[in-house]
Amino acid sequence: VKVDPFDLVVFGGTGDLAYRKLYPALFRRFLDEQLTQPTRIFSVSRQPVETDVFRATVAKSLQDISGFERAQIDAAKDFLSMIEYVAVDGNGEAGWDDLKTQLGDDPDRVRAFYLATSPDLFGPIATRLSAHGLVTPQARIIVEKPLGKDGVSAARINDAIGAVFAEDRIYRIDHYLGKETVQNLMVLRFANALFEPLWNAAHIDHVQITVAESLGVEGRAAYYNTAGALRDMVQNHLLQLLCLIAMEPPSALDADAMRDEKLKVLRALRPIDEQNIASLTVRGQYRAGSAHGSAVPGYLDELGQHTSMTETFVALKAEVLNWRWAGVPFYLRTGKRLASRVSEIVVAFRPIPHSVFGASVGAIAANRLVLRLQPDEGVKLWLMIKDPGPGGMRLQHVPLDMTFAEAFHMRNPDAYERLLLDVVRGNQTLFMRRDEVEAAWRWIDPILDAWRNSGEAPKSYTAGTWGPSASIALIERDGRTWLEES
Ligand code: BG6
Repeated sequence: VKVDPFDLVVFGGTGDLAYRKLYPALFRRFLDEQLTQPTRIFSVSRQPVETDVFRATVAKSLQDISGFERAQIDAAKDFLSMIEYVAVDGNGEAGWDDLKTQLGDDPDRVRAFYLATSPDLFGPIATRLSAHGLVTPQARIIVEKPLGKDGVSAARINDAIGAVFAEDRIYRIDHYLGKETVQNLMVLRFANALFEPLWNAAHIDHVQITVAESLGVEGRAAYYNTAGALRDMVQNHLLQLLCLIAMEPPSALDADAMRDEKLKVLRALRPIDEQNIASLTVRGQYRAGSAHGSAVPGYLDELGQHTSMTETFVALKAEVLNWRWAGVPFYLRTGKRLASRVSEIVVAFRPIPHSVFGASVGAIAANRLVLRLQPDEGVKLWLMIKDPGPGGMRLQHVPLDMTFAEAFHMRNPDAYERLLLDVVRGNQTLFMRRDEVEAAWRWIDPILDAWRNSGEAPKSYTAGTWGPSASIALIERDGRTWLEES
């Protein structure tokens, strides 16, 4: 479905996120003929660059980073001509009037400001947007994570943005919510009668959420070292996944109904603090090892420092204290430089109460529902079946497997493609509300404090493995094991 022409202003327009995610996403939407003329994309950054030069850089990045064919790009001159480069100082006064002149003042045209910058600039930019009269009736703002580094800084940023934009004009991106399988989780739960009656502590033994990356921190060590895996991934992406699994059915798929339910989950998380930190969390940091068969440096080498207390891996055991979930552990783990790139959610059902089969059939494994987010999106339901053939009664654990690539033969859109157009359409369902972000920090802050106060360094793990052995112990203490579906 086509969207009406709009203006998108990207602060941090020459940054990594813009080249890797935003321009490719817009280009895809353009190729699918969803963008209509005269849509305009204003790329904003501090240094002066000629628009023509900038367009050529975007064209090159589409080819080099995103792998578009030269021919596709040549055919997309109209896309590049939508892009204007404007030099604006987010932290000073230069360039704002120029931006204002170029944007014009059509009150009915959707105008979205995307802040792909460091969070320190979110407040100052919002303030200047207002001071320079850029906030028209259809204006909205998009902010990237991390929204602050703790609850206090997040609240400060929210205050500054909130002084200029009403909450229904603020789009806090968590790109995991735009991933195809994540949206499918809602469909699976709420468009099928099969799962919901079983979706509780009586039938579910535990849940595992793994977001494993094989890459290291790449060129982002300076940012990453101030964040760490808990802030970079758990505070947002993993907790959002947990919320979608654990929330009560909302009355409708509208933004506030969804976010109200997610908020209740965040508020029901069992606090982790100094009392229980040692038994409920593990953090790690990778040392040199190998990835895809070649040697790779350790985190400290990449950072160029001798020591760092920053974790590149975290595993933890969470619990949602309510009637539906009491006693069901949610094991979360995420890390850089792990054995493979795989993100998945495993819902492990309870074992059968009694076996009518003799011991000779072998163990009867419990059912599992696996939602694979990446790299190959799909849903698997593990069942026991009889081993085919005349050889007597032997049982096997096999998956009912729906791999999207095989089932649908189509490219899975990147999360940003969906989310950017949701902003233009004014749909906040897949964006986070202020209270949600702050509730997530309220759970994260005591973990960070307890780690800091313990003075203990993250446990070292070899790059290319599944993290420190303590994370295996974390789940094995409960008589369970990490289920790797790779
Ligand atoms: C980002 C984190 O939010 O998500 C990165 O800042 C991480 O550190 C990335 O690599 C992972 O996203 P995806 O979509 O590649 O799983």
